Amino acid sequence: MLGREICEQLAMNGIEFTGSDREVDITDQLSIENFAKRMELEWIINCAAYTAVDLAEKEADIAERINSTGAENLGLYAEKRGAKIVHFSTDYVFDGTKREPYVETDTPNPQSVYGRTKLDGELRLMKAAARYFIIRIAWLYGPFGKNFAATMLRLFGEKDVLTVVADQTGTPTYTRTLAENIVLMVLSATDKYGIYHYTDGGVTTWHGFANEIYRLAEEAGLLKHEVEIKPIPAKDYPTPAKRPAYSVLSKDKVTSALGFAVNDWKDNLKHYFTRLDIK
Ligand SMILES: NC(=O)c1ccc[n+]([C@@H]2O[C@H](COP(=O)([O-])OP(=O)(O)OC[C@H]3O[C@@H](n4cnc5c(N)ncnc54)[C@H](OP(=O)(O)O)[C@@H]3O)[C@@H](O)[C@H]2O)c1
Repeated sequence: MLGREICEQLAMNGIEFTGSDREVDITDQLSIENFAKRMELEWIINCAAYTAVDLAEKEADIAERINSTGAENLGLYAEKRGAKIVHFSTDYVFDGTKREPYVETDTPNPQSVYGRTKLDGELRLMKAAARYFIIRIAWLYGPFGKNFAATMLRLFGEKDVLTVVADQTGTPTYTRTLAENIVLMVLSATDKYGIYHYTDGGVTTWHGFANEIYRLAEEAGLLKHEVEIKPIPAKDYPTPAKRPAYSVLSKDKVTSALGFAVNDWKDNLKHYFTRLDIK
């Protein structure tokens, strides 16, 4: 989802790059080396990950290999080549017990296998490489992959009543504006390495997010019938992986140190709708 968006933005800005998918296995150092050894290399942008949050509870070994060893392998290779590396992590490294935005110096305490393997990946990458940007994001959505917005749009066509969790608070991250910020960062040649938090602006819940998707879908004439979206507590929607009840991320550091632009989540969602294949 994010990888394709970043490739599009790199291309649109005339930055020379080579995109890859599964043909480079990040869990295998030789695979990375063979892919990149003949390239000039200034930056590595890693969007690969094991992202099936619930399945990870059963597939901890695979998640660990991709999210932890994979991040370390790319860090080692970046270091070997003197390249900078951008890596993405998650709000799920936090336990969600805070009630004000998480800052980069807050102590992580992941509650799921996915969160633990992503945190492990951060730590191993930081040990492996000096020139790293670890960007923790949350509730990612965009036109190129499985995500909450796409799922809601599908369910609006299939159901009359939907129940959506209303006591988990956070902020969505739109792939497009994130990719635009990453491109500007690459062009700026910054060396302000470190961990950063980034999402869209504002605060909502999954239920609030669903309501706004519904409103915009209605406006775009995408609904075939009315759907009731009922708020429910997370305890009534049990999932194998525990999610943080609160995971709003502070954007203070990323805006001041890297100059990232932050758009309100509702404005970004409107933009996402302009890119749907509306017939
Ligand atoms: N999605 C979210 O809500 C969210 C929230 C917070 C943070 N993030 C982080 O944001 C980043 C991008 O997420 P995303 O949602 O764009 O992920 P995604 O759509 O699931 O894409 C991840 C990609 O990594 C590939 N991959 C898996 N194992 C690999 C390996 N060993 N070698 C090379 N590629 C491999 C996957 O291939 P297959 O499809 O073939 O498996 C997939 O194409 C990730 O670091 C993720 O942890 C995501």
